[in-house]
This record gives sequence, C-alpha cells and structure tokens, in this order.
Amino acid sequence: MLIAHISDFHVFADRPETKQVRLDIAEVARRVVEDLASFAPALDAIAFTGDLTDGGSAEDYALLKEILSPLQVPVLVVPGNHDKRQALRAAFSDKLPFEKGDFLNYESRVGNLRVLALDTLIEGRGEGALAPESLNWLAGKLAHATSEPTVILLHHPPFPSGMASLDNASLVAGREELAAMLRAYTNPLFVLAGHIHRPYQASWRGAYCAVGGSPAFQVALDLAADRHELACISQPYAYYVYRIGRDGEFTVHSRLVPLDR
Ligand SMILES: [Fe+2]
Repeated sequence: MLIAHISDFHVFADRPETKQVRLDIAEVARRVVEDLASFAPALDAIAFTGDLTDGGSAEDYALLKEILSPLQVPVLVVPGNHDKRQALRAAFSDKLPFEKGDFLNYESRVGNLRVLALDTLIEGRGEGALAPESLNWLAGKLAHATSEPTVILLHHPPFPSGMASLDNASLVAGREELAAMLRAYTNPLFVLAGHIHRPYQASWRGAYCAVGGSPAFQVALDLAADRHELACISQPYAYYVYRIGRDGEFTVHSRLVPLDR
C-alpha cells in the first residue's frame, strides 16, 4: 500500500488571508499534483491533512478541486484552521463519506487500511480541538480493533514538534483523551497531521506520527524553547510516501519537489 501525505496548500482564488503564503501557490500546487500523479508505481491514496485553502470560500475550493483533478486516486482530506466546514463539506461530499452532524469526521478504507479522519477545527481560531462528539466517534471506531493498520488523520498534531510557540497553538482540547485511546489500542496505528509547516516524524503513545510540510510557506527549524517568533525559510518541498504492509510494517520516504523554477 502506498500512501502519500501532503498538507497545508493554502490555495486561494482571489487574495491570500495569510501574509506568508506565496502568491504563486496555485502554480506550485499544480507542480506537486503533477509529481503525485506521475509517481510510479501508482499511489493508492493521498492523505491531505488540512489547510486545503487559505480562506475557505467556495471559489477557493473550486480552484483546489480543479488543481487536484489530475489525481486518479482517493484524496482523503481533513479541515485545517484556515478551512471552513460548510464550504469544505459542500466541495468534497461527493467523494468523502462525512458523518452527519456538525463535524467532518469520516471513516474510509484504502485496500487493507482503515482511515479515520478527524475534524479539529475551531472556526475563527488558529488552534484546534477534538470536541466530545468527535472523541466519542473515534472511541467507537477504535473499539473495533482490526488487525489491519489504522491511519488517523487530523490537522492539529497532538504530538509536540519541540517548537513551543507552534505546539502551544496546536491541539488544545481532547489531547489527553486521544492519548489514552492510542495507548489502549494495540494494533498498528499511524497518526498523520499538518499545521506546523515543517515536516517531522515522532513516536507518541505507541503510534507512528508525522506532520506533512507545506508548499505555501515553511517554518525554519528552531528548537530554542524561549523563542516565540519563528522565521520562515525557502527550501524544496518534501512530501512523504508511506509504504505500509498488511501487518503494519512500514517504510517512510521523502519526495522532494523544487518550489522555484
Ligand atoms: Fe497551515
């Protein structure tokens, strides 16, 4: 099973809301999609861990869908803090089995993988939360342990990057409840997130965890605990490709896409 992990495209149709977003992000996103579409052997699915758009308008999602249209495999998305629930649901409900109710949670299958997508959006805020309804939904799903690997997608990483100012603005509610669920679950588990704009990997509560980078803007590595202002840097975009076996054995590869031509 080959799963690519992309994140934080921040595509905008009119003008960006976030000043750091590169103005040619639509063109850059097309280049990333071209690379994903030409990956050989073909990918089985693409996990897209939020901030699909920068402003969350219907026009933003229409542009994003047009950019993603060369992809012939499922693109499994979750909302980021720059997305808007209603517009995202409207744009992707033809492809993704969102639960009814307020939150954009859903379960999907990719071959022998179970994918559980979680909504952590607090509209109008940068940080995220797992609402009681979403935690209950996840608990119900994890109560049915499968021997096959499970992949959890969410935008705000519950596992720290070590960059304090970013970690403090990440998942601010539901983190400990999620940790307890992961600790109790004994079968292969992957947790994929975004939000940090810098790719990293971690082991947290027994699960393999990763944050996908962003082609829209990239945060410089800075692990000084007392630093609150983080600098942006320009470097080639890296997305991850996970090669996951039926028993949960896996390999992680980085695939680089130059952003500037
Ligand atoms: Fe973002």
